[in-house]
Amino acid sequence: MTNLSKQYNNFSESFSHYVSSTDDVIRKPFYQSLSFDFKGKKLLDMACGDGQDISEYEKRGAQCFGVDASENLIAEAKRNRPNIDFKVGDMRTLPYQDNSFDVVLSKYALGTVEDIGAVFSEASRVLKSGGMFAYLTTHPMRLFMEQPGDVKKDYFTQKDVDMVLFGGAFTITEPSHTFNEFLSPKYFNHFDMVYFSEHHDPQSADLPGRDIYPDFFIVVGKKK
Ligand SMILES: C[S@@+](CC[C@H](N)C(=O)[O-])C[C@H]1O[C@@H](n2cnc3c(N)ncnc32)[C@H](O)[C@@H]1O
Repeated sequence: MTNLSKQYNNFSESFSHYVSSTDDVIRKPFYQSLSFDFKGKKLLDMACGDGQDISEYEKRGAQCFGVDASENLIAEAKRNRPNIDFKVGDMRTLPYQDNSFDVVLSKYALGTVEDIGAVFSEASRVLKSGGMFAYLTTHPMRLFMEQPGDVKKDYFTQKDVDMVLFGGAFTITEPSHTFNEFLSPKYFNHFDMVYFSEHHDPQSADLPGRDIYPDFFIVVGKKK
């Protein structure tokens, strides 16, 4: 497996342009799932990209921080929102102290790492007890369905999968994951799950003749 955490450096400008067009299919259900209070809360956007979601979180009254592995996207985030504390960093080793945040959010990023459990531990470490952790990530079914067709597909063995996004504008690679990983003790030892939903993304369904299946899912949890 290669290190996939820096791949967004290669297309940071076009990525920002396309992400701003995801309001109805991705942002809307994610924001709707965040039904807890944001006022005065210290919030980390983990793998924040160029920080576009911070506008919503600030509007709801949170004090926002952002971290992302891509230097280019963090540079863009700082340019667009100079009042926010953005850092380059890896979500497997977050550059923050224990118990620093009331809320950790992560949209469309967890799936990039091979070991999801490492991210659950880090999110829990930086959250205060009773803090909220919500994420949206690529659905395991999408990663299974889009495994290369020339070899037998295998749901259980982790493989890098190339996924075409935004009508072919670019391709990103993620390691495949199973629900065993997302619903493992590595999650439930830290969090109580309070919300789950699966979603189809017609904008991603750009492969000719692609079947209809869920592209992403959303989980909201509360730190024990
Ligand atoms: C699909 S983008 C989502 C960005 C943003 N959350 C959004 O929804 O617009 C995935 C992001 O995850 C970041 N990323 C990937 N692996 C990472 C890691 N190990 N640590 C921190 N960020 C990572 C990428 O640089 C990229 O900005």
